Amino acid sequence: MNTAGGCLMSYLEAAINIAREAGSNLKNAITKDFLVDVKDSNFDLVTEWDKKTENIIIDRIKEIYPNHLVIGEESVFVSSKDSFSELINEKEHVWIIDPIDGTNNFIHRLPGYTVSIAKFNYGQIELGVVYSPDNDEMFSAEKGKGAYLNKKKLTVSNQNQLENSMLATGFPSDVANFRANNLEQINKVALKCRDVRIYGSAALHCAYVAAGRLEAFWEEGLHIWDIAAGWILAEEAGGQVDYFSYDSNLMQYKSFYCGNKEINKQLIDVIE
Ligand code: 2AM
Ligand code: CA
Repeated sequence: MNTAGGCLMSYLEAAINIAREAGSNLKNAITKDFLVDVKDSNFDLVTEWDKKTENIIIDRIKEIYPNHLVIGEESVFVSSKDSFSELINEKEHVWIIDPIDGTNNFIHRLPGYTVSIAKFNYGQIELGVVYSPDNDEMFSAEKGKGAYLNKKKLTVSNQNQLENSMLATGFPSDVANFRANNLEQINKVALKCRDVRIYGSAALHCAYVAAGRLEAFWEEGLHIWDIAAGWILAEEAGGQVDYFSYDSNLMQYKSFYCGNKEINKQLIDVIE
């Protein structure tokens, strides 16, 4: 608990309030024209609302907790990523945020764009919030205290047969270098499961695993801000997160799996 503006507010309550404010701005912004730009990487797109929303979230966190470090997708610079990675482990209060996870959905006026906010404590995820503005779904979790959709407690599905499982994956935006990998993986999995969904937001996929809507989700090349909040949501709902190799300079996971324990294991067996 912390005193913010004279009243007691937990970190989680602060994260929920900030995500709701950011998300309601996005829900309004998506109905109007906005600027779309290409990032330095040349294959990722960014809108004026990615940057504006990130600034709003950082400002709000800093207003309440001036001494906390905030790392956001849009303001983390390549040259300084290495030092950020070290800071995540060394500092008690580090927030990692993605102002819009699913920017391509936002650009195409599709549902499935989310606000993702996580807080770390000496390198451990302490809490996470994933907010889906289109349908006002607020997923939240705190270490040791469970995962929730609005006020409802969440549990991952108890399905243990891959053939009855609904899975999700995501296409990396680097079409030339990575899309073929994902197609190969889908090829291996699609004949062995009920179906595969691609909603376009890694954070949302993890939240849906926590809610038991999906049995498991996998994707290559995700960054820490895409999945930190979803990670603790899934774990606190009784799920499992696995990954193969983490590049601490880029803050990027080579391959990331999030699901109920049994199906996560079966999925890894099929793909890896
Ligand atoms: P974003 O919308 O914040 O960019 C879609 O498959 C998922 O992958 C989204 O969560 C998306 O996050 C993320 N993503 C987009 N570009 C990426 C990239 N170049 N590398 C890794 N993940 C990416
Ligand atoms: Ca983003």
